[in-house]
Amino acid sequence: MVVLGIESSCDETAAAIVADDRRILADTIFAQIAEHTPFGGVVPEIAARAHLDHLDDTIAAAMRQAGLDFKDLDGIAVTGGPGLIGGVIVGVMMAKAIAFAHGKPFIAVNHLEGHALTARLTDAVAFPYLLLLVSGGHCQLLVVEGVGRYRRLGATIDDAAGEAFDKAAKLMGLGFPGGPAVAAAAAKATAPFRDLPRPMKGRPDCNFSFSGLKTALRQRVDALRAAGAFDDTARADLAAGFQQAVVDCLIDRTSHALAMAKADHPTLSALVVAGGVAANQQLRAALQELAAKHGLPIVAPPPRLCTDNAAMIAWAGIERFRLGELSDFDYAPRPRWPLDSAASALAGAGVKA
Ligand code: KG4
Ligand code: ZN
Repeated sequence: MVVLGIESSCDETAAAIVADDRRILADTIFAQIAEHTPFGGVVPEIAARAHLDHLDDTIAAAMRQAGLDFKDLDGIAVTGGPGLIGGVIVGVMMAKAIAFAHGKPFIAVNHLEGHALTARLTDAVAFPYLLLLVSGGHCQLLVVEGVGRYRRLGATIDDAAGEAFDKAAKLMGLGFPGGPAVAAAAAKATAPFRDLPRPMKGRPDCNFSFSGLKTALRQRVDALRAAGAFDDTARADLAAGFQQAVVDCLIDRTSHALAMAKADHPTLSALVVAGGVAANQQLRAALQELAAKHGLPIVAPPPRLCTDNAAMIAWAGIERFRLGELSDFDYAPRPRWPLDSAASALAGAGVKA
């Protein structure tokens, strides 16, 4: 089975072609960084228009890369939500049009399911496993029990981890996207700042919160600025302190979730990390240590497949098509779409699902 995947829910316009034997035949991404950089963050309307401008070329490039024609495809999978609705509409309309014109099955998949199942594309991980999903829009811990079977153990009650990195970078004047900028500044630290809070640490649930950490950072930056002492050294030390605080929070919450998941699922096969923040080297090292303590392997897909991409959408489509599932042509794009509909809703700026 060969499936075309389309992703357009945030600021990456992406198309990929994946085979059910886990080969990625094409993987093309048009990253809209230049469009959004002047605003220091993703502007939804600009993103939607950029998807409209670039999606057809991106798909054509993927088809060329794979050396295939639309008639060779077995199906089209597209992100049907959750995400910035303008972009999701562009992707879904494009997928429906290709499927309709070529008489191919079409499926709208949950973007979060794409992230959740990537470890099966890259490493053939067996169910059940614990997933830490950390990106600019998502921050949650899920037990992945099967295709379409997700149990959310915890999520952020305000900002997502990547969003916290982005806001911290903006605060410190480090640029966009914030995660890599904070990590690069942190690498130059000589005396990492230690006095930042670790919100939610030790709590009996598995939820996250980063807004208090961001406020503490802002107060520190303001104080240093007022004293005329916010130089490159201070910036690097603060970036390192902030990165350490985020990693500590993520490790504390994941450690708690691992204990809960193992109690419910003695056959838990791995700790999987996905999303853009999974590219953070300090987080990867700390997760490695945590998983080893629990006697589990850590699976971290390569950064290109951790950040938003279309290969994960094609793969989620393959997993769904294999089960005989299809979407109707009247499928309506969804701005919000929780993976675990039984989990209680959490309100907050970074809560997209
Ligand atoms: O998965 P992704 O590409 O898009 C979303 O769905 O949000 O993740 C992007 C996020 C951004 O917030 C970015 O700052 C963060 O991932 N990120 C990082 C690193 N690389 C990307 N955060 C921390 N450290 C990094 N090295
Ligand atoms: Zn994502």
